[in-house]
Amino acid sequence: MQVDGQAYRTIWLDPDSGHTVRVIDQTRLPHQFVIKDLRCLDDVRLAICDMTVRGAGLIGACAAWGMYLAALEAPDGSFESFMAQAGRTLTATRPTASNLAWAVQRMHDALSAGGSPPEQRRIAKDAAQAIADEDCAHCERIGQHGLALIAEMARRKPGQVVNILTHCNAGWLAFVDIGSATAPMYAAHAAGIPVHVWVDETRPRNQGASLTAWELGQQGVPHTLIADNVGGHLMQHGLVDLVITGADRVTRCGDVANKIGTYLKALAARDNGVPMVVALPSSTFDFSIRDGLTGIPIEERNPDELRWVSGVCADARPESVRICPADTSARNWGFDVTPARLVTHLICERGICDASESGILTLFPEHA
Ligand code: MRU
Repeated sequence: MQVDGQAYRTIWLDPDSGHTVRVIDQTRLPHQFVIKDLRCLDDVRLAICDMTVRGAGLIGACAAWGMYLAALEAPDGSFESFMAQAGRTLTATRPTASNLAWAVQRMHDALSAGGSPPEQRRIAKDAAQAIADEDCAHCERIGQHGLALIAEMARRKPGQVVNILTHCNAGWLAFVDIGSATAPMYAAHAAGIPVHVWVDETRPRNQGASLTAWELGQQGVPHTLIADNVGGHLMQHGLVDLVITGADRVTRCGDVANKIGTYLKALAARDNGVPMVVALPSSTFDFSIRDGLTGIPIEERNPDELRWVSGVCADARPESVRICPADTSARNWGFDVTPARLVTHLICERGICDASESGILTLFPEHA
């Protein structure tokens, strides 16, 4: 996508060195656009842990490149055990999104076809690049399928703007390019359909305010930032036509783990007859789990993310301030699970389906 008119992916292998992975540092957005270099497995582990990179698709792609860097570091004499440990290290960084463990497993599968460490290093590079390219292609297709839904909404209210509410950032910053939830918005905007996006701020890390608002602005998509609790009020007043969120893990029956607060949007959407649509590439499915509430591990993060807020002062100096008494105890769950019954549709790269086991299996019959 475009940053100040120049096309970027969120992650790429530096073509000159061949062994440096470059990422957009998302902890610095929206105030600074900074590219960071990752040169070894531990750089990748840290970048995922401190959320230099975040979002389901991107942490998957980053883990794949981390496996490539690990393959460059691995001694020939203990290549297999080094790579097995690298996979465990990366998988442990963040527990909720499926894409991370999926990408690590795909790298292991690819490596197993190689006959020697030098060959496996070449395979690792190609496999990581393929995962990144596939992420982009899948998001592109999600955009085209979602465009049909938005176009249908637009037909029902000729000459009026289609209002879409989204939560957190399932945009191009959460993937390698384009995004999942944002893909239909970008496709509709490009097709000349008038869309406007309500952007939930998404406490406590404010990915909506700092990332989604920034990336929609960079692409010229009309949007308005709202506090997290506003969505229900807007729906009651007919100001939301459609909710589109991303997902971090979706079970075979259609339960959706996504950023904390998504469940409350889904409840409000159901109460107001607003379609609740979840966009995801197939790497976000976990076909081994049926019940999301009992089966999906929910990341609990440092409570200081809740107790402190970061931003810039009027003179653009970065600043963090505490917003509660110093001794207030806090807990910080990163995700919640929206039961399939509250989800109107899933949009995947293969098409649109019901959020149910039978609906999902119509698109992915190989998992029956
Ligand atoms: O904690 P994050 O920022 O990595 O959370 C992921 C998300 O941004 C959301 O849950 C998003 O909607 C799904 S990621 C495609």
